[in-house]
Formats: sequence, structure tokens, C-alpha cells
Amino acid sequence: MIPMVDLKKQFVEIKEEVLAVLTEILESSQYILGPRVRELEKRIAEYHSVSEAVGVASGTDALHLAVEALGIGEGDEVITTPFTFFATAEAILYTGAKPVFADIDQDTMNIDPVEIESKITQRTKAIMPVHIFGHPADMERIINLAKKYDLRIIEDCAQSFGAQINGKKTGSFGDMGCFSFYPSKNLGAFGDGGMVLLSDPSVADDIRRLRNHGSKGAYRHESVGFNSRLDEIQAGILLVKLKRIDEYNNKRRQKAALYNELLSDTVVKPVEKPGAYHVYHQYTIRSRQRDEIQRHLSKNSVSSVVYYPIPLHLQEAIGFLGYKKGDFPVTEEISEKVLSLPMYPDLEETSIRKIADIINNV
Ligand SMILES: Cc1ncc(COP(=O)(O)O)c(C=O)c1O
Repeated sequence: MIPMVDLKKQFVEIKEEVLAVLTEILESSQYILGPRVRELEKRIAEYHSVSEAVGVASGTDALHLAVEALGIGEGDEVITTPFTFFATAEAILYTGAKPVFADIDQDTMNIDPVEIESKITQRTKAIMPVHIFGHPADMERIINLAKKYDLRIIEDCAQSFGAQINGKKTGSFGDMGCFSFYPSKNLGAFGDGGMVLLSDPSVADDIRRLRNHGSKGAYRHESVGFNSRLDEIQAGILLVKLKRIDEYNNKRRQKAALYNELLSDTVVKPVEKPGAYHVYHQYTIRSRQRDEIQRHLSKNSVSSVVYYPIPLHLQEAIGFLGYKKGDFPVTEEISEKVLSLPMYPDLEETSIRKIADIINNV
């Protein structure tokens, strides 16, 4: 079977370094919010040329605490995309604020700035673009809207570690950049983890408090917070992988280039807009024959996944928001055609050839 993601080879390459780090951590018996978390925060902030980074327990928490720290809650609206993982909307809902969806761009499948503008009301406080599948959202136009209407920007960078626009990294455009270190992400831990990047030191301090029960330490609680701490083991592993993240992303780009070359034009392939640096968290094609392609792949022992079959506005759990089928035609059409193919840095060339042959034959 060719899986969607296989990180075994990557582990073999870093095994000795990882085991040495784990041994050090276990011998030090300092497990939570220690020196490695601080080192990781510093390195990831530097990598993105921002001044503050706060490690948290997951990407979902990064988004939630970011919204919370901006004082957004009950009665407020945050505009985001319906074509994303559910956590994007959950993070907004946790604070009492309302996610307001705006349709996506046909080419990049990212939130469309024209659609954002049509959804802005007196209650809108922020825009939450998602750099879906690793392709950056149109940050220039989103920043212009945020300036025009005095809105905050919280970037969901769960799928875009290392992605860039004209050399500037995603997560460094908005007020906050929120990352996930879920194992299959471009920079993945061996468990859950997340991080918020930002430039305002006082808001960073608020997030540091929020992640640790509203306390900066010594059992003094200034607010009611959460338990959302990053642990030393995940930080230690992430430090080993961070040194290699550009190489991992380059390899993903090479695999994507080979898919692009081998797949016939009967399927729609991912685009890379001028100035954009796509990091291919997913390699996602589109076809009217999506289900047939998927059946053939499966018959030939190739995994593939539909991200995302049900757009957020049609999810049962948030039916109370009152959306209906037909509200976001681009998203709805795309969700019927998308298919993500196996993609990871060590995906074999022979596997890509096999996958392309199967798809071209359909
Ligand atoms: C776009 C997006 N946002 C948020 C998340 C949530 O991240 P996590 O799984 O680390 O909570 C994910 C990841 O699964 C994601 O893909």
C-alpha cells in the first residue's frame, strides 16, 4: 500500500539525534515548559523574523488562545473560510464569537478577499485566513482590507510551515500566526503541539498566561486560563526537525513538480501563484471523475483522501449558524472534485509514477 504519509524513513535519518535528546530530557526529568520549549520558541520566531512565539498544546489551541488574547468573544464576528479543517471554526466558537464564512478562490482554494469584504459588518473583529494545503492566502489584499476596516488578522498556518510570499513567511503577515505540530504536518512532532507567533510582547504575555491557567507562575492567577502547555519532549523533537525543515519542504516541492509533470491535463493540478512558495502539505488534484479515480487508486493499493468532503457551513455541528447548501458555490463545487494524493518528503519517485499512471488511465 502507498500511504498518504510515511515518516519512517525520516525517523531513521534523525533517530540517533532524537534518542540523544529524549535521553537528556528523561534524565533531566523536566517535562513541561522548560528550556527546550523556550529554545524552540526563539528559533521559530527567528525563522519567521517575528519577535514573539508561544508554544501551546495544539494548533487548535494556538488559534483559540490567539482569538481569546485579542479580546474577541460574545457578540463578535470573525470571517474565515468554509474550506478548511473543522478546528478553524471551533477555535472561534470556543470564545463565544461567531465564525462568518466567505467563499474561496477557484485557483488557490484560499479565502477570496472580494468575498471577505462583502461579509464585513459592525461586529466583524478579525479575519482568519487559512493557507490551505500549504499555498499562502492572498495576504496583500487581506492586509489592505484589515487596514481599511480596522480588523485584526489571525493566520491559520497549520498547513503552511515555511510557505512564503515574495520571501516573507506565512505567520508573519497578520497580528498572529498559528501553527500546528500534529505529526503529519510539514513540521510535525511525535504527538500534539502548536505555536502562536506575534510581534506584540504584551499580547504574547497574555497568551503565556492563558496557556498556563491564567498564571505566570508561583500560583498567582491573574485570569482564568487553560492548560495548554507544550512539553519538552515535543519541543526537543521539533528542534531536531526544525534544522531540516527547508530540506523537507524542498523535497515536497520536488515531489509536487514530478506529479505536475506526469499527470495529464485531464485533472486540475495545484497552482502556485507568482511570488508564492507552496509547501505542499497536501498535493490536491481536482476532477469530475474524483470518485472513480479514488476507486482505481484504492484497487491498486494507493491511498487518497478527500480533504474536505463537507464544507464547514454544511457541517451538522454548526447548523445553528443558519447556512444552507448553495451559500458558497465555489467551495461546494470544489469539495465535490478534490482528491489529495500521497505526499511526504520521502515519497518514492516510482510511487509517483505509478499513481500518475493509474490516474491518467482513468
Ligand atoms: C487548517 C487547520 N487548522 C487547524 C488545525 C488544528 O491543529 P491541531 O490538530 O494541532 O489542533 C489543523 C490540523 O489538523 C488544520 O489543518
